[in-house]
Amino acid sequence: MPEESKKKKNLLVYNLLFIAVCAGIFLFLWNAPPETTAHLPHDEKHNQYLEMDKKEAEKHCGTCHGEDEGKMPLPKEHPPTYRCLFCHKRT
Ligand code: HEC
Ligand code: HEC
Repeated sequence: MPEESKKKKNLLVYNLLFIAVCAGIFLFLWNAPPETTAHLPHDEKHNQYLEMDKKEAEKHCGTCHGEDEGKMPLPKEHPPTYRCLFCHKRT
């Protein structure tokens, strides 16, 4: 095969590889499971935190949610709890 068309063939192979990799990444992201973490509820207990500065709001969560007696316990496998609103998004 002449040198010139060999180069063209290589270029084609690289382009196809590139497209295949892009498609792979796209499918991977497309199939990612939907976000399942519960959002901050919309009710009279939580609505006041929708407008508040996040760090300010998070100081209040512990008055009702937590391990202490009389509070709503978090699920057993709950991840570390600092910055509640990073995970429990406000919508
Ligand atoms: C005045 C008490 C109180 C405060 C303060 C409070 N919560 Fe709650 N929260 C509750 C109660 C009661 C429930 C369960 C019933 C409900 O959904 O309202 C609940 C439920 C939740 C749920 C579960 C929603 C679901 O779909 O299961 C999340 C997440 C949550 N709160 C996050 C927070 C965060 C984050 C904060 C701080 C910004 C916070 N809460 C502050 C009382 C409170
Ligand atoms: C690193 C991420 C993360 C942080 C930070 C976090 N949570 Fe969670 N939380 C989760 C996950 C994941 C679950 C279990 C899945 C779900 O939401 O149902 C959960 C569950 C909960 C539930 C029970 C929801 C239900 O549907 O039963 C409550 C209430 C809750 N978290 C409150 C809080 C509070 C209050 C804080 C801050 C003190 C906090 N979380 C911080 C990730 C987080």
